[in-house]
Amino acid sequence: MALAWGLEPDAVEQAAPILLHGRLAASMLERDYALADPEVLAAAAHHTTARAGMSSLEKLVFLADKTEAQKLERRHDWRKVADVASSDLDAALLLFLDIHLEDAIARRWLIHPRTLEARNELLATARSLETER
Ligand SMILES: [Fe+2]
Repeated sequence: MALAWGLEPDAVEQAAPILLHGRLAASMLERDYALADPEVLAAAAHHTTARAGMSSLEKLVFLADKTEAQKLERRHDWRKVADVASSDLDAALLLFLDIHLEDAIARRWLIHPRTLEARNELLATARSLETER
């Protein structure tokens, strides 16, 4: 379906096609629903992997997806992410990505480069804020 919509899956997306549903959803929202807000489209596109340079809306949508009630029923360790998200989106996103990467390594999943770039950026920002204090 992603190919039919003109998306070009990268190597990780080819190996884990579930990751494509974000970019595919953004394409559908833009073409079939005439949604033109680039920030909303980016939030849809990147809610699967995260990315460096996420806006607050993108972080909010990403975290809302990961902390919705049904997921928290299955993933009790994500409840802390929901708690932190109520006061600090960056800290919650970094916590989620840490948990996700530990899972990914333990389960030998491929890790999308955008996910690593998002975490690296969050860590760099957190460290520079610590240095300023
Ligand atoms: Fe999704």
